[in-house]
Amino acid sequence: MTSKSVYLETFGCQMNELDSELVAGSLGGMGYRFTANADEADIVLYNTCSVRERAEQKVWSRLGEMKHRKKHQPDLVVGVLGCMAERDGKNMIAKAPVVDIMCGPAELDKLPQLIDNAVRTKASLIESDPEVAIRRSAKQVALQGNASRRSSTLAAAGDSLESLDLGRMISPVDFDGRRSAYVRITRGCNKFCTYCVVPHTRGAEIHRPPEHIIDEIKSLADTGVIEITLLGQTVNHYRFEHDSAVSIDGVVQPQKGRTYKGSHNRDAFAGANTTTFADLLYRIHEEVPAIQRLRFVTSYPRDFGDDVLQVIRDCPRICRFIHVPAQTGSNRMLKMMNRGHTIEEYYEFIQRCNEYLHQPEIGRPLMLGGDIIVGFPTETDEDHELTKELLTRSRYKNCFIFKYSPRPGTVAYDKIPDDIPNEIKRLRNNELLDLQTKISDQIAQEQVGGEFDIFVEGLSRREHKRRGTDVKPGSGMVGITIGGAAPQMQSAVLDSTDHGPTAQLSGRTDGDLIVFFDVPTDGVVPPSDYIGKIVKARITSADKLSLNGELI
Ligand code: SAH
Ligand code: SF4
Ligand code: F3S
Repeated sequence: MTSKSVYLETFGCQMNELDSELVAGSLGGMGYRFTANADEADIVLYNTCSVRERAEQKVWSRLGEMKHRKKHQPDLVVGVLGCMAERDGKNMIAKAPVVDIMCGPAELDKLPQLIDNAVRTKASLIESDPEVAIRRSAKQVALQGNASRRSSTLAAAGDSLESLDLGRMISPVDFDGRRSAYVRITRGCNKFCTYCVVPHTRGAEIHRPPEHIIDEIKSLADTGVIEITLLGQTVNHYRFEHDSAVSIDGVVQPQKGRTYKGSHNRDAFAGANTTTFADLLYRIHEEVPAIQRLRFVTSYPRDFGDDVLQVIRDCPRICRFIHVPAQTGSNRMLKMMNRGHTIEEYYEFIQRCNEYLHQPEIGRPLMLGGDIIVGFPTETDEDHELTKELLTRSRYKNCFIFKYSPRPGTVAYDKIPDDIPNEIKRLRNNELLDLQTKISDQIAQEQVGGEFDIFVEGLSRREHKRRGTDVKPGSGMVGITIGGAAPQMQSAVLDSTDHGPTAQLSGRTDGDLIVFFDVPTDGVVPPSDYIGKIVKARITSADKLSLNGELI
């Protein structure tokens, strides 16, 4: 057992948040304490993202700060985890000896050992020469390199990593426990969109066995979790072949040939021994009814069969929100991005989603979300107009718009010069943002008068501000005490009447719309009792993008 304290900061996507949670759980089980204050930590870990250059710059600036810190604290151990480590690992230690540990996202099960080695190495360096210890890296490295691309090692890689998810530390929750959790269904990505680092950093696509997924969800449900978000880069590609895939005991069996019957086919991937995404959703819904909200991200616009849409339609606890990025409205750009579908196919998909799932009359309008890359090489004004048309036609409730950022190692970086000036990227970006804001606003207005089930998450940000208890959004500190309970506020603080007779809470509809509503602080039901529960509310007004409601 150790008494060292750890600061863990997370950048990037939900996949990284989950990885941080799993890592924190496993370190917690070994006695490491977690602190929200980097200054008092013995071990500082950054779980990094490489998807755009900006994400990496943030980490470089953190590392700059740590370099100064090491002057006063030579035994400080600094680790870079995740996608940036995998992408740039070898260079990074050479460029920044402040980094003691490099650990790729597919190697995180090795982290405890790496930390242990780094602490020992530091101690012996200090013993021989403290001056050298300040400058020298402990050089503990675990990166996947290209190993995952070799099929003979693919299943083995999956096996060892699977232990990280399987070892998830789940503690019984009291009030402090969260009610919402991520569960991974697929690792990696095989799509190789030309701009994207993810297939390079996360490795080849591997699907987790459905039994593992369901057992994990059951354990989470036993602790009080009622909302699960399934994670994968292309969730709808999920398929598990029961007689041929990764097995936890390390026995790897040969892959059997499978027949793909074409997209949009009910049985696109189905076979007697296969669990498809539709099967998986259905099984979770039926086998773990305690999960009142089942979500999934991210969907890929191709190969999303009607079978999945039917399951979503027929299962009341599966949410009516689909995040399905299109990236651009132009076929020419889609082709250069290697997205593997046309814009017509995308529109056809959106139309099918709406046909099956848009049911405002029962309080379940379908909400869509998207991502756009603006200023991809050679993008013309015409291409840009087509992307505007995409926003108008798709009517996303929210859409992330990213300026194209060339990433070393990708096909676009190597083969397609980044020829759109930043100024044009910025102008187009702003134009799309303005358009999307109008659409989001319209969608919000359309909800006024509607009645929704709201999953209550906590005090609203405004209420936090009012009380001076502001929690920094996206501060990146993983919400972990030992075992995965989120650091929420104590009920005494939440239910305080010091700030007036009402408290504003926020929650989300099953379509992922955020709703604010007031509850009395001096009533029979204290505000803390609402959190983690589902309540019914009527929308009374929409102010810009936020919905205000009242309990009914
Ligand atoms: N698997 C998901 C996306 C994962 S990355 C999907 O295919 O939809 C999240 C988003 O980051 C992408 O949808 C894309 O919009 C954006 N992105 C990825 N690489 C980028 C790059 N090089 N520059 C700018 N944005 C990028
Ligand atoms: Fe990246 Fe494309 Fe894979 Fe999404 S589908 S992670 S954008 S390569
Ligand atoms: Fe970033 Fe890696 Fe996620 S590059 S977006 S952290 S998969």
